[in-house]
Amino acid sequence: MKKPLHFAHELVQAVVKKGDHVVDATCGNGHDTAFLADLVGAEGQVYAFDIQPQALAAAKKRLLAGNLLKQVELLEASHAEISKWPPGPLAAVMFNLGYLPGGDHALVTKPDTTVSALQIAVERLKRGGIITIMVYTGHPGGQEEYRAVRNYCRSLPQQAYTVLEYKFINQRYHPPLLLAISCM
Ligand SMILES: C[S@@+](CC[C@H](N)C(=O)[O-])C[C@H]1O[C@@H](n2cnc3c(N)ncnc32)[C@H](O)[C@@H]1O
Repeated sequence: MKKPLHFAHELVQAVVKKGDHVVDATCGNGHDTAFLADLVGAEGQVYAFDIQPQALAAAKKRLLAGNLLKQVELLEASHAEISKWPPGPLAAVMFNLGYLPGGDHALVTKPDTTVSALQIAVERLKRGGIITIMVYTGHPGGQEEYRAVRNYCRSLPQQAYTVLEYKFINQRYHPPLLLAISCM
């Protein structure tokens, strides 16, 4: 069976085309940003948010190495700042919650700002577009964030959005899980 992150990539890959505009809401070390930049190609645009300069610097290095920086705008800002978002429409928005691997584990995504950013993402999503949210519950605050995000996702009207939760339910130690929102 596919791991949740692998499944998230498959869902995004099935939707995003060359020339599309997409958002990485939690850039971190830039793995998802590079993945998205490759999908949209040189004629597309990726907007990548992070509040940590250290994360954006690592992402920039990765993008340069892959010759992918041209189609990426790295934004040192919170994903909850609506004015920093592109006007849309967006084909995909990826969230990878929690802390920066190799960084300060106390600096994590927070329920309020994550849900605000999700609301913006849903508003900007084009028909057929997808939002993926990788959720981690093992760190302090992780369970609360999961509850808030899941509640928000469950509140979306089924006439307009399809929402899934993908997780392994027999694993110990808080395995990561995926929530995904597809706009019909
Ligand atoms: C799990 S990491 C992301 C990993 C990333 N997808 C990668 O491929 O390396 C979560 C990131 O979210 C960032 N973050 C936390 N709060 C944020 C916010 N309000 N807006 C944007 N990014 C935020 C953290 O700085 C951290 O780099």
